[in-house]
Amino acid sequence: MKLIEARNQFRTSLKGLHTVAECDYYFKMILSSLLDIDPISIALEPNLNLQSSQQSKLKSVLEDLLTEKPLQYILGEVPFRKLNLKVNSSVLIPRPETEELVGWILEDYTKLNHKVELIDLGTGSGCIALSLKKEQSFFSVYALDIDQPILDLVQQNAEENKLEINCIKGDINDLHKLKLKVEVIVSNPPYITPQEKEEIKNNVLNFEPYQALFVPQDNPLLYYQKILEYAEESLQSKGRIYFEINPLFESEMEALIFSFDYYTITKRLDIFGKIRMLRLEKK
Ligand SMILES: C[S@@+](CC[C@H](N)C(=O)[O-])C[C@H]1O[C@@H](n2cnc3c(N)ncnc32)[C@H](O)[C@@H]1O
Repeated sequence: MKLIEARNQFRTSLKGLHTVAECDYYFKMILSSLLDIDPISIALEPNLNLQSSQQSKLKSVLEDLLTEKPLQYILGEVPFRKLNLKVNSSVLIPRPETEELVGWILEDYTKLNHKVELIDLGTGSGCIALSLKKEQSFFSVYALDIDQPILDLVQQNAEENKLEINCIKGDINDLHKLKLKVEVIVSNPPYITPQEKEEIKNNVLNFEPYQALFVPQDNPLLYYQKILEYAEESLQSKGRIYFEINPLFESEMEALIFSFDYYTITKRLDIFGKIRMLRLEKK
């Protein structure tokens, strides 16, 4: 089979599930990370003959995609800013909005010449913690999550990218046990309510970890509240908190933050024009 025929067949098979643009993006990712073919070959060598081993790998990925399994889990890796991170079904697939949150922090700390202690609460794949360490070596980074298999993956990602960070197994509900004072807190905690479930696509709902996505219906801001309580004692004065938030709860978030009476708030929109990020500066 020729490369261009494979691409066309790929588009046709996934027609009901993905747009042509998504199909083409996936196809290129598969070429480079699984078939060892430069994606530009689609334009430059459309008649390239695929070997039978390449055809069977492509067929197997396509079968998985038809179950709506996310491509990132099928390939087991995802690009995030300057890193290529391993992912598996124990962690959330890092999102482009989160790359923007990391970008904001880096903008604020470009000119560092001294060590700054920073903690990432609910680290998942370690995308935030590891990118910050990669792009600002003066950060001394702590990465906390609730389960050991998650932290094992973070450690693996750290080693493969030759980055040193400190992994902590802990519960955001019990941060008072953490005897660590920091200058920066960053968190993209679970923030989707069970009520929003119906709007979530199957590829997320059926494959990404429930505990990474959902909060209790009766307290959607639970994790933010716990983090703000931790910050009362453990965030240095003039320290900052960076949150990724659910745009649906922006005003409730603001009220919660004001109830702590310490912070100046700055908001940022994501690429989709929604208020998705907050920066809190402690007085
Ligand atoms: C929305 S995911 C974010 C993952 C990653 N930071 C990112 O931005 O892609 C939330 C993370 O919080 C973790 N988490 C959920 N409940 C937690 C808890 N009670 N204590 C600590 N971590 C928790 C989940 O395991 C998950 O990795």
